[in-house]
Amino acid sequence: RYAYVNGRYCHHGEATVHIEDRGYQLGDGVYEVVTILNGKMVDEAGHLDRLERSLSELRIDMPVKRDVIRMICREMVKRNGIDNGLVYMQVTRGVAPRNHAFPTKPVKPALVMTTKRMDFARMAKFTDGVEIITVPEQRWARRDIKTIGLLPNCLGKQAAVEAGAYEAWQVDDDGYVTEGTSSNAWILTKEKKLVTRQLNQDILHGITRKTVLELAVENGIEVEERAFTLQEAYEALEAYATSATSFVTPIVKIDDHVLGNGKPGSFGLKLLAAYQEYAG
Ligand code: PDD
Repeated sequence: RYAYVNGRYCHHGEATVHIEDRGYQLGDGVYEVVTILNGKMVDEAGHLDRLERSLSELRIDMPVKRDVIRMICREMVKRNGIDNGLVYMQVTRGVAPRNHAFPTKPVKPALVMTTKRMDFARMAKFTDGVEIITVPEQRWARRDIKTIGLLPNCLGKQAAVEAGAYEAWQVDDDGYVTEGTSSNAWILTKEKKLVTRQLNQDILHGITRKTVLELAVENGIEVEERAFTLQEAYEALEAYATSATSFVTPIVKIDDHVLGNGKPGSFGLKLLAAYQEYAG
């Protein structure tokens, strides 16, 4: 199995970065996760657009040209024989003596990539649905930047795992759901309106979110981009988590509240099928 590190393909076990990489010391970097389905990258352009945006918000240069990133992704998929899975790419500001301020001497941003194999076809979450919990929103105010600084997300996901749940939805001080620790949050209201939070700095601008919104409209589902409260979610007909690796995962229980009959609902399954057809 290969990893990519700053211009080289090396064995995964021997892939290393410097201890003074600013990603390692300061969390000064960004990442993307792109799904591979039947050997093809899903929504590659959207992910690369968001990578460029995250980097520019942090004033980090692209480590190599966009086309070179595309080529490295393909090479990784090929070398590691990934039919279904993901490519993880991370860019940090680079290596410099530790200092919170940016390096004064220009440094080259560091690019690393790994892959992971995943058997999407056999995942119980798509057929049985999942249970989620909720946690207080504790992240910073620029959640639209896909930073590698994921400590609150890790704590939230760990709380979910310890509760036997798939994901934790983060709830802000006003009682509104922002998003999951690694996915966007959706509900289907009693009026059969599909609701997901509007895009601003409060949430990550999910690539899957954008695609699913388009598919919903194509399927004649009414959509509303707005914040929804946790109470509204408890009373929803259906709920879902979307992300590159979750596709549209039906949620059947939020905290102690069972949704519908406790099985994935028809809207969610329709959206999941539409997404799988689109992506595959
Ligand atoms: N997570 N919100 C957060 C906080 C995320 O970390 C992610 C993705 C999403 C969904 O975005 P997209 O549809 O572009 O994958 C929303 C990736 C998969 C991860 O961290 O592994």
